Amino acid sequence: MDQLKDLINQAKSEFSQCQSLPDLDHAKAKFIGKSGAITEAMRSLSSIPKEEKPKVGAEINSIKQEIEALLAARRNAIQSQAMQSQLESELIDVTLPGNKQSAGSLHPISLTLQRVEMLFRSIGFDVATGPEIEDDYHNFTALNIPESHPARAMHDTFYIGKHVLRTHTSPVQVRYMKAHQPPLKIISPGRVYRVDSDATHSPMFHQVEGLWIDEKASFANLKGLLQDFLQSFFEDESLIIRFRPSFFPFTEPSAEIDMSWNDGWLEIGGCGMVHPEVLKQVEIDHDNFQGFAFGLGVERLAMLKFGINDLRPFFNNDLRFLKQFSR
Ligand code: PHE
Repeated sequence: MDQLKDLINQAKSEFSQCQSLPDLDHAKAKFIGKSGAITEAMRSLSSIPKEEKPKVGAEINSIKQEIEALLAARRNAIQSQAMQSQLESELIDVTLPGNKQSAGSLHPISLTLQRVEMLFRSIGFDVATGPEIEDDYHNFTALNIPESHPARAMHDTFYIGKHVLRTHTSPVQVRYMKAHQPPLKIISPGRVYRVDSDATHSPMFHQVEGLWIDEKASFANLKGLLQDFLQSFFEDESLIIRFRPSFFPFTEPSAEIDMSWNDGWLEIGGCGMVHPEVLKQVEIDHDNFQGFAFGLGVERLAMLKFGINDLRPFFNNDLRFLKQFSR
């Protein structure tokens, strides 16, 4: 009997050493399995005196129940231990800072164009666009550019069969004037292409074209407008511009636009009064209407605005450069 009672202590200590359910099943077999100690004890009942059987039988049963209770308790403990360590290993600390997804940022050229558009819209200009793959007529002929003009040469212009990658935004003047009646006031920002590449020239760059046609838009208005625009763009009321005599086939008179910068002058574009020959091409009555046009270099504006002294970083896609413009 004492031997049987000892089984309870044995089971207790064996069960407590089990760390997993398969281990526990294994240990259980030793006590209440087919050939376990309790089962053996039941079998041995046959060999004891009849009158002791009920007492011993009841005893064995109660020991069996106790062992089953120990087993159930240990099974619960192992299961909750497993649940606990799973919870710990899958723990998410919701107070940690998240992995931030970068929202990206606008390219400095886009920021510059946005600012240019915003300023011109504020004084009543519309924004017009045209194709980057142009035909010879709009890029050259309608703009009074003669056959012999150097811009038409293969080494200056990218030709695609009969078409060209536009060398300036001026063809948009032609397209817009053909489609609209004066008075009209537009700017036209966009990409242009020339066979040219070094620290200050890129084969693709950006221009903003401007065009104002009405009964009396004058050369003086042109100069005043450009100076006002540049003062606003650079937030500098002391900025002044000067016109340097120049030549473009599609304007007469023509000028290069220089603006004051650090005690010197910087060229930022070309301009002039729209040539009567161009107005004729677009069927605008040049006895009653006149006006001016200008073309500004956007990279130049961006370089001055942001203090960048090389053109190439704009097109290298180096994130260390581009990230400096995120807001
Ligand atoms: N299209 C000229 C250029 O690219 C600039 C310009 C525009 C000049 C409008 C006069 C008027 O050089």
